[in-house]
Amino acid sequence: MSYIVKNGDYHMKKIKVLSVFGTRPEAIKMAPLVKMMENNKNIDSKVLVTGQHRQMLDSVLEIFNIQPDFDLNIMKHGQTIQDITSKVLYGVNDIIVNKFRPDLLLVHGDTSTSFSAALSAFYEKVPVGHVEAGLRTGNIYSPYPEEMNRKLIGSLATYHFSPTQNNKNNLLKENISENNILVTGNTVIDALHSVTKNDFDFSIYEDLKNINFDKKIILLTCHRRENWGKPMEDIFEAINKIALEYNEYEIVYPVHMNPAIVQLAEEKFTANNVKRIKPLEYVEFANLIAKSDFILTDSGGLQEEAPSLGKPVLVLRTETERPEAVEAGTVKVIGVSKDKIYEEIKNLITNKNVYDSMANAVNPYGDGHSCERIVTFIESLIK
Ligand code: UD1
Ligand code: UDP
Repeated sequence: MSYIVKNGDYHMKKIKVLSVFGTRPEAIKMAPLVKMMENNKNIDSKVLVTGQHRQMLDSVLEIFNIQPDFDLNIMKHGQTIQDITSKVLYGVNDIIVNKFRPDLLLVHGDTSTSFSAALSAFYEKVPVGHVEAGLRTGNIYSPYPEEMNRKLIGSLATYHFSPTQNNKNNLLKENISENNILVTGNTVIDALHSVTKNDFDFSIYEDLKNINFDKKIILLTCHRRENWGKPMEDIFEAINKIALEYNEYEIVYPVHMNPAIVQLAEEKFTANNVKRIKPLEYVEFANLIAKSDFILTDSGGLQEEAPSLGKPVLVLRTETERPEAVEAGTVKVIGVSKDKIYEEIKNLITNKNVYDSMANAVNPYGDGHSCERIVTFIESLIK
């Protein structure tokens, strides 16, 4: 930062920003910010992807036309959180020390990529900006390891971009200085607005050709580590039972690429109206949310996206770090017990009043201008 002298004049140097991400949700939520920084004359913006996810990350990079400057390409099948954490720690350090030392390193959310990149920056005394800061469940094992990752990033970061006032309050309780917290909205709303449209034509997509769009659509995603094993078995069994009983619905499940999940889904889903498909590109997926009757998910991002499209969400978890949409009535946390999941889905299908009361377009996550607020803040750091 600061100033350089050129031809006797003072020219302001650009602020050097390195955005680091590695998984699908981080990429979706960082993409609009990266695009905005690319076009900003005061910012020298570079992108480092860790490749914690490979195909699911590359698909997002392609949609948003982002060419990373650095790619650690770390993914291996069946990777552990120790694998990710150690490879990212060394890989990001190498870039900072040998290739591009930023004035600010941005990470997003709560993945192991984000935590480890923030730690790497801290070791090199590079200030960290945390996008999507301050989400908390209060339980360090749920979501696991994400709750601990985001708490640790909160301690490592200098600047905190919180989607909501509630997220800011969580940070204040952890004694983070109010001056360094900016409430921005969630950048996922910026991304969602950029890809959804009313007249979206699903028929041109090969990966959706087996879906019967004359039926009502229930959209399912399920991938979280704390649900692996018995909870996920119960979730799948309950949903399969619903599918068998309510054949007028088509349950569309783009299965996460984790081989353990692919295998369990193959075992448990016997109903022919559960359509297991490969992960969808974000453009198709976002528009499929808009087309669905309702959503079943343990995903974080979907709890933010679906409410803004007026779609009820039943959360297949025991808690949520996103209470705003629960308070607004669009999202309900239904736990992971088989009977309860079955009853809650049945209730939403059969009870019109319940459905109508949940199907409200509410959007506690911002006006789609979150990235502008973050960019303006970053520019204000130029001295
Ligand atoms: C990670 C994040 C989680 C986030 C999720 C989003 C951590 C610890 N977890 O979990 O917070 O919600 O991403 O999806 O950071 N795979 C592929 N291709 C891909 C992506 C994954 O084959 O494009 C397979 C690989 O075998 C990989 C496995 O999925 O080893 C698991 O991926 P990993 O990033 O370790 O965990 P996620 O469950 O995806
Ligand atoms: N998503 C997608 N294709 C899919 C499933 C999900 O593009 O097949 C998007 C979804 O819209 C959301 C994000 O991926 O923006 C959520 O990612 P994921 O569920 O993997 O992670 P989480 O949000 O739980 O961290």
